[in-house]
Amino acid sequence: MLDHGAAPPQTEPTPKTAPANGGLSLGARLMRRKPVERLVAEGGHGEGGELRRSLSMWQLTMLSIGATLGTGIFVVLGEAVPKAGPAVTVAFVIAGLTALFSALSYAELAGAIPVSGSSYSYAYATLGELVAWICGWCLILEYGVAVAAVAVGWGEYLNELLAGAVGVTIPDALAAPPGDGGIFNLPALLVVLLSMVFLLGGARESARANTIMVVVKIAALVLFCAIGVQGFQSGNYADFMPLGMAGVSAAGASLFFSYIGFDAASTAGEEAKNPQRDLPRAIMLSLLIVTVLYVLVAAVAVGARPWDGFGESEAALAGIMKDVTGQTFWAVLLAAGAVIAIASVVLTVLYGQTRILFAMSRDGLVPRVFSKVHAKTGVPRANTLIVSVFCGGLAAAVPLGHLADATSIGTLFAFALVNVAVVVLRRTRPDMRRTFRVPLSPLFPAIGFALCIWMMTSLSAVTWTVFGVWMAVGMAIYFAYGVRRSRLS
Ligand code: ALA
Repeated sequence: MLDHGAAPPQTEPTPKTAPANGGLSLGARLMRRKPVERLVAEGGHGEGGELRRSLSMWQLTMLSIGATLGTGIFVVLGEAVPKAGPAVTVAFVIAGLTALFSALSYAELAGAIPVSGSSYSYAYATLGELVAWICGWCLILEYGVAVAAVAVGWGEYLNELLAGAVGVTIPDALAAPPGDGGIFNLPALLVVLLSMVFLLGGARESARANTIMVVVKIAALVLFCAIGVQGFQSGNYADFMPLGMAGVSAAGASLFFSYIGFDAASTAGEEAKNPQRDLPRAIMLSLLIVTVLYVLVAAVAVGARPWDGFGESEAALAGIMKDVTGQTFWAVLLAAGAVIAIASVVLTVLYGQTRILFAMSRDGLVPRVFSKVHAKTGVPRANTLIVSVFCGGLAAAVPLGHLADATSIGTLFAFALVNVAVVVLRRTRPDMRRTFRVPLSPLFPAIGFALCIWMMTSLSAVTWTVFGVWMAVGMAIYFAYGVRRSRLS
């Protein structure tokens, strides 16, 4: 096992434009990079305590699958089918390819810089502080806002479950945010607070609970395929691409949401037992497993229900189970699986958000409170509480559709930066130890980058506006706080 804590905080040759001492010009401060060795040497250390290395390769894979498989397949699929028709299967493959090329880059960097900050830390080591901040700010969209989006989807399946099991549903006023016909989304808030309780118990305990939930959700999707395939009608595929390639690419951009999370293992670099060996494997393996499941589920779903029949219910998969079997029981069982599945996304993505803020706080770019570690549990407690209250509030008050797309655009931007970071690190640190190497670099990272940008252009003007405002707020915070408080100052 690697003992990063003992590694001396060496530094790479300091660039002339960005000396690590004070009195820097603004340009030099924005460009300063954090040496890889320093990032790694600081790994695990928080204020007042240390994170614990307890996660195995298996648990890291489960962490990534836990964060990935959820609302995208159980809810967003139903919204994407009306855009692409049966070609939604192709849309899944396109979104999966975008994820794959970026996953290769993540795998290389996670093996080389195994810390908790994920792409934020990779950008800090390669592209400088300003870009790292932008990346970290995008990760808040990917993780923090995703938690909220996913928690909203959880509430929808919870209602489906309650309706089937006991014939009662939570009234709209308490199960939907303003703008979606309600006042307050109580279930969404509850699932976030429940996850918070697990996370406060410790990373190992949360990973155990997550592993059980992941097994249940994979079983639920396999069950869906086994039953759904019995209702397969080839006629449903007659008009394969009814809305053309534009529909497929729009659906692909929405479905990209379902792949978000494969990078979650890269937020556990400081709690993994053998991060350099296990992180790249966990990232690639989780992506492979979810892609196979997604394409199978989408193919079966469209085979069992005509594409223009989607969009009536948000819990599309449960509805298909009911149509095929004629029995509510199976739909209830699937809804129960979805409730557990989506809860594990909330848990793991919330975990990722806390660890990213932990890394940013240790660097001084966000307040110190985020890197305080509880001495007994090894958990960043205040961080977990603050993030949970923020995400829970967002989940309770904002409609899912807007949130999901905002999440996708932020993630795509962060992924694009990771593809650039791989190429830069190959140039600046060619001899560094890498446990995984992206094949055919710089071609594959270039393809990954291009696919991310292309997907971003498929998102709506509203989403771009949200992104623009988000970035402007991020810049204001960085220039008002981070640039001065940075520990590299
Ligand atoms: N990929 C995660 C989900 O689909 C965010 O729920």
